[in-house]
Parts: sequence; C-alpha cells; structure tokens
Amino acid sequence: METMDAGLLDELEEWGRANDAQRPERSGKVLNLESETAGLIGLLIRSGRRSRLLEIGTSNGYSTIWLAWAASAASLGGRVTSIERNPEKQAMADENLRRAGLRDVVDLVLGDATEVVASLPGPFDFVFFDADRVSAAEQLSLLVPKLNPDVMLLADNVLSHPAEISGYLAAVQSLLNVDHLVIPIGKGLSVAYRDAS
Ligand SMILES: C[S@@+](CC[C@H](N)C(=O)[O-])C[C@H]1O[C@@H](n2cnc3c(N)ncnc32)[C@H](O)[C@@H]1O
Repeated sequence: METMDAGLLDELEEWGRANDAQRPERSGKVLNLESETAGLIGLLIRSGRRSRLLEIGTSNGYSTIWLAWAASAASLGGRVTSIERNPEKQAMADENLRRAGLRDVVDLVLGDATEVVASLPGPFDFVFFDADRVSAAEQLSLLVPKLNPDVMLLADNVLSHPAEISGYLAAVQSLLNVDHLVIPIGKGLSVAYRDAS
C-alpha cells in the first residue's frame, strides 16, 4: 500500500470524537490516539523498518491501521498482532481494517492482554502499549524474552495518566542498554529503543 486512505482516517477520527463525547461509560469509548501521535508512530515504524509489531489495546482499530500501513509501507512483509479484550471493539477493528485494505497483515487476538502476551511466541521488534497502563509492566516482563535484540517499545498516556503508567516507566528504564525518553505529543508518548549492538 503506497498511501494512507486519508478519507477513512478522517471519518474514523470524527466518529471516535463523537462517540466518546456521547458515551458516558469508559468501556463504550474508543479512546483513539491523537492523529499527531499516530503520525509520529507511523514515521518511527517506517524509518526504523519495523516488521514484527505487537499492539496492546486495539479498540476499534484506528491506531492498528496506522501500524499496519507503516509496517506494510516499509516493504518488509511486516505483520501486526493486536490484542483487545472487548469483542464489540474488536469487531469494529476487523471492519475498519478491511475498509483500509490492511486486514491481511493484522492478527486480531481477543482476550486479556497479560494472558495473551504470555502465550505469544514472538519475536517482536516493536511493541505499542495502549491498554490499561497498570498491567503494562507485567506485560513487558513477559515480553522481554520474546523481543528482538533491536527493538522499539512505545507507550501512550505518560502525561495524562502518570501514576497509572509509573510502573511501566520504571520497568522499561531498568532494561539493559535501552535509551528512553518521553515525547510531549498528544497524551505523552514513552519511546524506548535498544539497538542490536
Ligand atoms: C486507549 S484504548 C486503545 C486505543 C487504540 N490503540 C487507538 O488508538 O485506536 C484501550 C483499549 O484497550 C482495551 N484494554 C484495556 N485493558 C485491556 C486488557 N487488560 N487486555 C486487553 N485489552 C484491554 C480496552 O478495551 C480499550 O479498547
């Protein structure tokens, strides 16, 4: 795929904002990434030529479309595995990925993310944590043996939910040979990178 379907993304962004404004309960909101954060993540995937991607927190597939497009654009036969525990949101992601023409490069997995990551074989060269934040630290520890030596680890909500994500930040900063910074974009993006050397 050469270009993103900007019309579809605009439609999803508008739908997500309207949905989240009118649904009082958190479980009904889709809580999509800000478009600037999604664009930066896409750029990091493409420039870093990431090809084995894991996303924790699919929701309705808005960010998954960005990940799948960027992994495909790098022309490395990239694939995305994306985990979601809410079946209605996963069904929306399935439909949205089909509309984007990217369904065949994504494995959608339904279930609790911590249980799922324990069962995934890996390896992964890119992980995006965007689910419940508190369990991200445990998920990271389960994933460490399944990571490529050259790996990028991202997490959203560092500035919006500092207390909830503090365990993850401590865990990622304690990994050996990892450079880490927080980019003040959107809700605050944690970016960690370990190169193979
Ligand atoms: C912030 S939303 C993800 C938004 C999505 N990445 C995007 O930008 O379009 C978080 C999602 O993670 C899911 N979730 C939260 N905790 C989870 C868990 N422990 N296991 C699996 N999914 C979880 C929620 O149902 C919700 O859909």
